[in-house]
Amino acid sequence: GGVITLDPGYKNTGSCESAITFLDGEKGILRYRGYAIEELAKKVDFLEVTYLLIFGELPTKSQNDKFHEDIKAQSAVDEDIKKILDAFPRTAHPMGIISSLTSALTAFNPSSVNVNSEEDMYKAIVKILGKMPVLVAWTMRKRQGLPFDYGDESLGYVENLLKMMFSKPNSCYVQSKILVDALDKLLILHADHEQNCSTSTVRIVGSAHAGLFASISAGISALWGPLHGGANQAVLEMLQAIEADGGDTKKYMAKAKDKNDPFRLMGFGHRVYKNFDPRAKIIKKAADDVLDALGIDDPILAIAKGLEKEALEDPYFVERKLYPNVDFYSGIIYRAMNIPQEMFTVMFAIGRLPGWIAQWREMRLRKEPIGRPRQLYIGATERPFVPVEER
Ligand code: CMC
Repeated sequence: GGVITLDPGYKNTGSCESAITFLDGEKGILRYRGYAIEELAKKVDFLEVTYLLIFGELPTKSQNDKFHEDIKAQSAVDEDIKKILDAFPRTAHPMGIISSLTSALTAFNPSSVNVNSEEDMYKAIVKILGKMPVLVAWTMRKRQGLPFDYGDESLGYVENLLKMMFSKPNSCYVQSKILVDALDKLLILHADHEQNCSTSTVRIVGSAHAGLFASISAGISALWGPLHGGANQAVLEMLQAIEADGGDTKKYMAKAKDKNDPFRLMGFGHRVYKNFDPRAKIIKKAADDVLDALGIDDPILAIAKGLEKEALEDPYFVERKLYPNVDFYSGIIYRAMNIPQEMFTVMFAIGRLPGWIAQWREMRLRKEPIGRPRQLYIGATERPFVPVEER
């Protein structure tokens, strides 16, 4: 019963009340639990932001230490997971692998499925936070034919992720502080973004009381799409195509504006930001800083800046309030870190993990009902059945 309001893409439909992330798209404001994203990116690390998002407060030193210890204690991944990884072709897209492995983790951790208390939730949360970086690193190493690495307990969360990704057999691993800090900052900027496509997916899958890992796996699948997290890989491919095409940005601008051409300027536009994406501002500066610090002169960065300048002055983009989003410059930093293009969206997933967890936990603690949108039926009315001989 009742009147059904149609809102495709949920452009104006709120799905929940949430105390996690505040976003003002007109003013370009983004805050986690009340703290400005700009300040968090400068003053705390990714693990503290993870704690903040999930539990609502910045951790004390001892809370943070305990959280990290609990995560480390859960970071071992069952050896049999390697067999599953092994079965994928080396060319498989890492997002498909990560989503499958995250779902597969449920089989090895059955107790994580029926969570009914905060304590059960906490156990599932530290498990996924511990194991996900291992899955990410192994997936990248499989692609490159490198032996798997289990990391080093003495390192910080993000530094350990980089070690697991990049350590070489028989050599001592040293990662530059510039890169660790840059990745930490990038992950913070990706950590939550209220009810976006993947987060809404996590909440809706979780609302059926599927386990945390299954819900996260669904979120990873949603994030893979090029209109969502997949845009960071698509941006770099676009910039490379422009470079290979002699750097003709005007040609691609024209394609993006042509309604008969499916091409879109990847990394531009956003459902909610109609002024600028505050994350893009920070990331653009970080890209400059990282490339400077590493002494890298990347022609792709110049193309990105040229494209941005043209778009910001072009009436098509101005009228539609299309600005660079978080994905526009992030790939340039990942590239400077030697992270392969196919792994860019996986890095986004690692960054978004705390947000997915926080939103899932909030949804469960608030005992939200199962997600179940309605529809307006537009198909045939009742028809008489026709036997196969008469069709
Ligand atoms: N290039 C060219 N035209 C665009 C673009 C673009 N990147 N984005 C939007 N438009 C046009 C669109 O064609 C439409 O024009 P018109 O009014 O003439 O039909 C108008 O702008 C409004 O766009 P929309 O598609 O109705 O807006 P939406 O809110 O449904 O979509 C979006 C938002 C992010 C999916 C879209 O802007 C897009 O496809 N951008 C490119 C992909 C991208 O960068 N995605 C990353 C988003 S941010 C991080 C994340 O979510 O992971």
